[in-house]
This record gives sequence, C-alpha cells and structure tokens, in this order.
Amino acid sequence: MKQAGRSWGTRGHRILPLRSPDNATLALHFYRIKTGILSPRERSRRVDKALPATENRSSVSSSVPTRKALPLPALIETEFADLVLHARGKVRDLYAVGEHLLLVATDRISAFDHVLGTGIPGKGKVLTQLSLFWFDFLKDVVPNHLITADVKQYPAELQPFAAELGGRSMLVKRAQMFPVECVVRGYLSGSGWKDYQATGAVCGIPLPAGLRESDRLPEPIFTPATKSLDGEHDINISFDEMVARVGAAKSEKLRSLTLAIYTKASAYAEERGLILADTKFEFGTTAEGIILADEVLTPDSSRFWPQDQYKPGGAQPSFDKQFVRDYLESIRWNKQAPAPSLPEDVVKRTQEKYLEAYRLLTGKSLSL
Ligand SMILES: Nc1ncnc2c1ncn2[C@@H]1O[C@H](COP(=O)(O)OP(=O)(O)OP(=O)(O)O)[C@@H](O)[C@H]1O
Ligand SMILES: [Mg+2]
Repeated sequence: MKQAGRSWGTRGHRILPLRSPDNATLALHFYRIKTGILSPRERSRRVDKALPATENRSSVSSSVPTRKALPLPALIETEFADLVLHARGKVRDLYAVGEHLLLVATDRISAFDHVLGTGIPGKGKVLTQLSLFWFDFLKDVVPNHLITADVKQYPAELQPFAAELGGRSMLVKRAQMFPVECVVRGYLSGSGWKDYQATGAVCGIPLPAGLRESDRLPEPIFTPATKSLDGEHDINISFDEMVARVGAAKSEKLRSLTLAIYTKASAYAEERGLILADTKFEFGTTAEGIILADEVLTPDSSRFWPQDQYKPGGAQPSFDKQFVRDYLESIRWNKQAPAPSLPEDVVKRTQEKYLEAYRLLTGKSLSL
C-alpha cells in the first residue's frame, strides 16, 4: 500500500508510516531496475543517495576522529525477492524464515517520532553489533532471541543476499511479543520529567519533591509504556495498567528482569564513561519462556549521556541524535509528515556519534 512520498508497513495491529527516499531517487532506482542497470544484489535494496561521493570535509567539525570513507549509500529499505516480508518497523525490516524471523536493521533514522528522509550510512550495522554485544553481556541475566548473526550459518534461501545482510541482520526466534515496552529510568528526563513536573510521580511512582531535570533518581524505576493507536507515540502506563494488560505474574517478572538488566548494564556503561539515563526493552515469549527480543541498549532505545558533560538542572545533549535534532529545530520543521531530509554534514556527524557510541561501549572500533 502506498501514498505519495510514504510507504506503509504493518506491525501486528499497528500500521507504521515509513518515509522513503525522495521520489526522484526512487524513480531513478526503479528506472535502473527496469532497464537492468542494477545488479541482482542492488535490486534487493532501496538506497539513499543523500551523500555525494566526494565529501566536503571542511564542513565537518567533530571531536571524534573522522573516518577515511563513508560507506555509500545508506540502506533505506530492503526488498529481498522470494522472502516473505513479515513487517517493517521504523528501523527494522522483518522477514519470515521458516519458523524464525530475520531482523534486518536498515539505516533509517527517526526523530520526533518520524522516520526522516535521509538515512545514516552504516547505522543499522552499529545497532546490530551493539545489540549482539549486549545480548552476550547479559546472557546470564536473561535468555534472548538470537539464533545467529553469522550469515554463513543462515539457511540456504538467505545466501543470495549474504552481502546485504552481513553485519546488519540477525536470525532470531520468533516470539509472541508483550504489548508493553519495558522502560527503566535511573535519571529524570524526557516524558518522565514531564510527568514528574505535572504529578510529582512518574507512571504513578511517587518521587521526592525538588528533583531537577536530569537528576539521578534515588533508585531505578520501572515505567512501562504502550503504543498509541496511531503507532507513533509511546504512552506511559502505570504498573497496574500493565498488570491489567499482561497479568500480575508476568508483569512482575518483566519488571524484575528489566531492573536487573539496567543494574548490570548501567554499572558497566559507567565504567566506560557513559551514564545510562534510561532505556527500553521488548520481551516476548517462546515455548522456552520469556526472552529478551528486539534491539538492546542501543542509542536508539536508550539515553546515553557522556559522564564528563553531565549537568543536572536541564536537558542533557542527546548522545547520538543531537545534530539531527538541532538541525530540525534550526529549519523550524513543524514535526508533521513529511519529515525533511538531512544535509551531508549532519549525516556525517551523526554517523560518527553512532560509531563513537559503539567504540565507547565495547572498547572496539567498528569498520563498516
Ligand atoms: N524475536 C522477535 N519476535 C517477534 N517480533 C520481534 C522480535 N524481535 C523484535 N520484534 C519486533 O520487531 C519490530 C522491530 O521494529 P523496529 O525496531 O524497526 O520498530 P518499532 O519497534 O516499530 O519502532 P520503535 O523501535 O521506534 O518503537 C518491533 O515491532 C518488535 O516488536
Ligand atoms: Mg524498535
């Protein structure tokens, strides 16, 4: 189903608006498919030509080391012939592979609840590699959905797409997902801060008076959320509301898993110079019980703040999307669709922030 400038993907009962590359880019891409200019591998993806092949590095100033080359172009949307598309999320394309799912993290980026017109080259690889790092780090705390991310071990039907899939995909156990996002907050920020200002509590959990924006909380709190019907905004709910939706025993289990993961991961992040202010997990059930699914502790699902710049009493700069947000504010975008595209230097600096997050958290550089 298509509408002008947008493509639509289903996720369970939700329909998510996805921004595609601009019409001219797509028209050129389809023209090349039609005329056979694209190789079979190229045919499997839609691309984003936002960045010119020659970069103007003089427009880039960043405290992190610049890389020699950007992998071009960003992968905006996958289309694998003969595979069954299960769903498209804001960032991931999901395919049904036998009884399993193939999760492919594209380079789409969203801000203010909209997928933007430009992708960040390699972002999907950073998210995938970071999630793999955390799945391994957390495996003693909680089982997870990963079967393998080694493309060579993927089923034969996926081998033709090995080059596209390498580094940015995972074969996972298909889970029955809980209709609740398991959010944990160690600091007061975002919707938690708004809620606190209005009610003195977050998701019904009372907090001491006099806390400032970005203050550390006396202890981490579990503040579940659910999706609104438009599928774009998360809505905070109370624990009782969660119990009404998924049951008391499961809610308690999800809360204790979420807090245990946060405790372990935030202590580790702190050792690496990063504050894990809050994060969101998605859990599901398989025949083996409750597992951690989706992505884990990436900059897209979490607020990471550099410790050395932490100043409570106001908003902290977002680690990864600050350049994107600043740019969108500077052009006074009304935060309604269609979402704008990004200029080259914003793309480049954002890519560097994602890579920096990976490097800081894992201690290794990721080559894209
Ligand atoms: N093991 C799994 N089994 C079934 N569904 C899964 C599994 N892991 C992840 N998912 C689902 O895959 C989708 C991933 O999509 P994606 O992260 O792109 O977007 P989103 O979750 O819709 O949006 P956002 O993350 O911005 O809220 C989600 O709907 C998630 O619930
Ligand atoms: Mg998601």
